[in-house]
Amino acid sequence: MQPRIAPSLLSADFARLAEAAAAVPGSDWLHVDVMDYHFVPNLTIGLPVVQALRKSTDLPLDCHLMIDDPDRWAPTYAEAGAHNVTVHAEAAADPAGLARDLRAAGALAGLAIKPGTPLEPYLELLRGYDTLLVMTVEPGFGGQEFLADVLPKVREARRRVETGHLTLAIEVDGGINEDTIAAAAEAGADVFVAGSAVYHADDPDRAIRELRDLARKAYA
Ligand code: DX5
Ligand code: ZN
Repeated sequence: MQPRIAPSLLSADFARLAEAAAAVPGSDWLHVDVMDYHFVPNLTIGLPVVQALRKSTDLPLDCHLMIDDPDRWAPTYAEAGAHNVTVHAEAAADPAGLARDLRAAGALAGLAIKPGTPLEPYLELLRGYDTLLVMTVEPGFGGQEFLADVLPKVREARRRVETGHLTLAIEVDGGINEDTIAAAAEAGADVFVAGSAVYHADDPDRAIRELRDLARKAYA
């Protein structure tokens, strides 16, 4: 497995997003947290900012939509050129149809589950998805503590991939840093979102390399 690191712009300076993207040339995906004040108690950025980012960086944009009614809004992020668009299972009315719409619009389709949401009910549905995002904190804010309790869901998803039942990138998001990434990697994650661990580091691009090395060592 090749670990991919996705720095989260949520921990960057919102007045300097293009510079924040330019500061992490070594990242695999650039994670963009879209929050609407309804699905989560925080409000961040939306479609116009994603459209502007698309023009100012070549990094693949990984849009994590923490919003109500993703059935209506998520495809517009795919049309805006996002590489991967992740919607929350708790918010989607027709997640199977939504995955088809996202792919038809040219993006990978991602499904996110909150820490308290079980994986089991979504296993069949995930056959139509490209990415599973397992939240390792409650969605809404950066800088929270990693919840190791959710790792059994990562392990189970990895087992399903290994047995050929699913073909998915398994992404973890929240509290990923030098102390926690190995546990997530050992459980089977291969995409690691890191906000504060990257953007609060003195050298964000070096922090990415260090995180990737730690994940590689955990796989070995
Ligand atoms: C939280 C967001 C995360 C956040 C992670 O709801 O989905 O992407 O940026 O931040 P850290 O890495 O600081 O926990
Ligand atoms: Zn996120």
